[in-house]
Amino acid sequence: MNDQIDLNRLPRHIGVIMDGNGRWAKKRLLPRMAGHSAGANNFKTIARHCNELGIKYLTVYAFSTENWKRSKDEVDNLFNLFRDYLIDSRNFKDENMRLKVIGDIDMLPKDIVELIHEAEENSKDATGTVVNLAINYGGRDELVYAVKKIAQEYKNGDISIEDITEKAISDRIYTADQPDPDLIIRPSGEFRLSNFMIWQSAYSEFWFSNVLWPDFKPSDLDQAIIAYQQRDRRFGDAK
Ligand code: IPE
Ligand code: IPE
Ligand code: MG
Repeated sequence: MNDQIDLNRLPRHIGVIMDGNGRWAKKRLLPRMAGHSAGANNFKTIARHCNELGIKYLTVYAFSTENWKRSKDEVDNLFNLFRDYLIDSRNFKDENMRLKVIGDIDMLPKDIVELIHEAEENSKDATGTVVNLAINYGGRDELVYAVKKIAQEYKNGDISIEDITEKAISDRIYTADQPDPDLIIRPSGEFRLSNFMIWQSAYSEFWFSNVLWPDFKPSDLDQAIIAYQQRDRRFGDAK
């Protein structure tokens, strides 16, 4: 473990935009799918590392609401990786990590939805890192969902206009009951959120790196945490 990390000031919640699988494969003259497989393996390594460090929440962006634009082959391939991973996660018990899938899962193949429910149920008592796997996740989509929910509650007389607060919205998105991400990491040299946690990231610290996701090492995560710990978070205050 990197002794520059102050274990008493860890980010509670880290978000990772797992980007660069395609470029990783291209560099090696391999099909994009090889990059996604390597990326999926790396996710397991990084999740374990977060658990060992004592990170409470890790959210990884695996498939966005915009990623349906990709070829059917690529989407099918990604879904097969989700299947493999969810089946694998039956071993999560020993690792003491809790799995939660965030995103609109109704649009996923039914067998994957079942695997998701099974994996969430199997890991629900784990006390280590909560791993949010974002599949068919979109920050805007989740806000639309929250707005619809509130509109329905208003219609039913269950919520008043005065009760529609920031907290009311936070309570109706996928990460309800979780702290906002303190640190958001995007490898692969892109400087954008691509619809990732747009509500939750209002005061997140960002860390960007040129490393492609399959090459992103636990030591890179450590560097991001060390940089995070040197930031001065003010939240609008004048201190
Ligand atoms: C991230 O890698 C994985 C997903 C978005 C599913 P990409 O597939 O976006 O890799 P690049 O950006 O093409 O290198
Ligand atoms: C963001 O990566 C989505 C995921 C990592 C799942 P993209 O590769 O889809 O993002 P853009 O298209 O470069 O913005
Ligand atoms: Mg990409």
